[in-house]
Amino acid sequence: MKIETLGVVGAGTMGNGIAQVAAVAGFKVVMIDVTETALEKGIATLTASLERLVAKGKLDVAARHAAVANVEASTDYSRLAVADLVIEAATEASELKLRILSQIESVVSDDTIIASNTSSISITALGAGLNHPARFLGMHFFNPVPLMSLVEIICGLHTGEETARAVHQFSLDLGKSPITVRNSPGFVVNRILVPMINEAFFLLAEGVATADEIDSGMRLGASHPLGPLGLADLIGLDVCLSVMDVLTRDLGDQKYRACPLLREYVAAGWLGRKAGRGVFDYRKQ
Ligand SMILES: NC(=O)c1ccc[n+]([C@@H]2O[C@H](COP(=O)([O-])OP(=O)(O)OC[C@H]3O[C@@H](n4cnc5c(N)ncnc54)[C@H](O)[C@@H]3O)[C@@H](O)[C@H]2O)c1
Repeated sequence: MKIETLGVVGAGTMGNGIAQVAAVAGFKVVMIDVTETALEKGIATLTASLERLVAKGKLDVAARHAAVANVEASTDYSRLAVADLVIEAATEASELKLRILSQIESVVSDDTIIASNTSSISITALGAGLNHPARFLGMHFFNPVPLMSLVEIICGLHTGEETARAVHQFSLDLGKSPITVRNSPGFVVNRILVPMINEAFFLLAEGVATADEIDSGMRLGASHPLGPLGLADLIGLDVCLSVMDVLTRDLGDQKYRACPLLREYVAAGWLGRKAGRGVFDYRKQ
């Protein structure tokens, strides 16, 4: 199973980041989204990110050109037919992902590996909807993808060993450091990280400290590069809420209940950086 061409479904925060690192690593990438506008935004983000790398001297101009030339953007799923691996990085919703995964399977070859970048949905449950679940697994990248070195490779009950091995090698080829974990709600990192963020919302809601003080506390007292509330804004409050709801439901333990303030912010559309405001207001900056 040699991976040469990558398909990415979803050109949002994660999709364009995954497309960027694969293109820089020399892979051909086909990036799919539902609208031209979403694709244009994805390509613009990817291009701006590459420009920053050039400005910092981490990438030369020729490599930037080559990376951009490696990416094809399309609304047509049939363009994925050439992909050896397709990573689904669309909106976090179970039914939508099941539909997208079947759509991917209907256009790719029988050898193609399909992965989901879901933060919280069961890889076993998503795989059960496919004709070839042995070639399906979770490939969980972290935000921002070009900067974060971890990839969690999640094996569902159906995932084949050869599939996991090929994706492990591909992650190394991207310059990432993979860990392989069994399917379980929240996998490893989010099971620890998102309840910590949720606890920060409880502290904020209880008026124990201000948002700045909570974040300073964890930056200065626990050496976190970013405080939990700033991190929530980066991840997306909707994504955090959805992870908490999955942990509560699938682990059946109320200790994971989402903080009502987090739910309230999501209801208000205060989703974090991508919306211009979350816990913090980014419109002033
Ligand atoms: N944001 C994070 O920090 C983070 C981290 C790890 C994993 N994830 C996971 O990655 C996935 C994507 O998250 P995101 O933050 O990039 O979301 P996003 O909202 O930025 O982007 C999602 C993209 O999917 C597209 N989309 C929706 N339906 C589609 C369809 N039918 N076909 C093709 N594209 C479609 C949307 O138009 C949008 O461009 C989610 O499953 C999320 O849980 C997110």
